Amino acid sequence: MNTEQPDFQKVYPIRLDDEEKLTKKQFIFAFVFSVLALLAGSNLVKKWWPEKYASIRFRLPFKASRISVGSSVQFQIPEGKTPILVTRISDQKFVAYCQKCTHLSCPVHYLHDKKQFLCPCHEGVFDAESGRPLAGPPREPLKRYEVEVIQDEIFIKSA
Ligand code: FES
Repeated sequence: MNTEQPDFQKVYPIRLDDEEKLTKKQFIFAFVFSVLALLAGSNLVKKWWPEKYASIRFRLPFKASRISVGSSVQFQIPEGKTPILVTRISDQKFVAYCQKCTHLSCPVHYLHDKKQFLCPCHEGVFDAESGRPLAGPPREPLKRYEVEVIQDEIFIKSA
């Protein structure tokens, strides 16, 4: 009987039953390495292109003086999927929220007499000042955007 090892086993001296262990080790190593590489990569990208990840200010195509107290305008951030509702809740105050209800995503509408946003789907109610839920099934507040009015121009900031 020939007991001499074939050439490939000299080059790759791993027995069949050790092969699975090696594969698990390699998998764990590759997984940990990939996670670390992703973390390092995302931090580097943020460092190299900070402006891409900083909050961005958008100027609305509406003048503040054209929006009467109690009314809203819709605005879509470029590349954004959901409209933002910019509402003048008093003479001096504008608020901006994502129009999507935090329950099941129906669009909310402003009720000026109650200073609330109403979701007609399941009668979810949100406070206009804070965006927090007041009634109905929603548990999370509306997503809020910072609003600034400078010389009749309205700016909203996306985080
Ligand atoms: S989707 Fe708004 S309350 Fe259900």
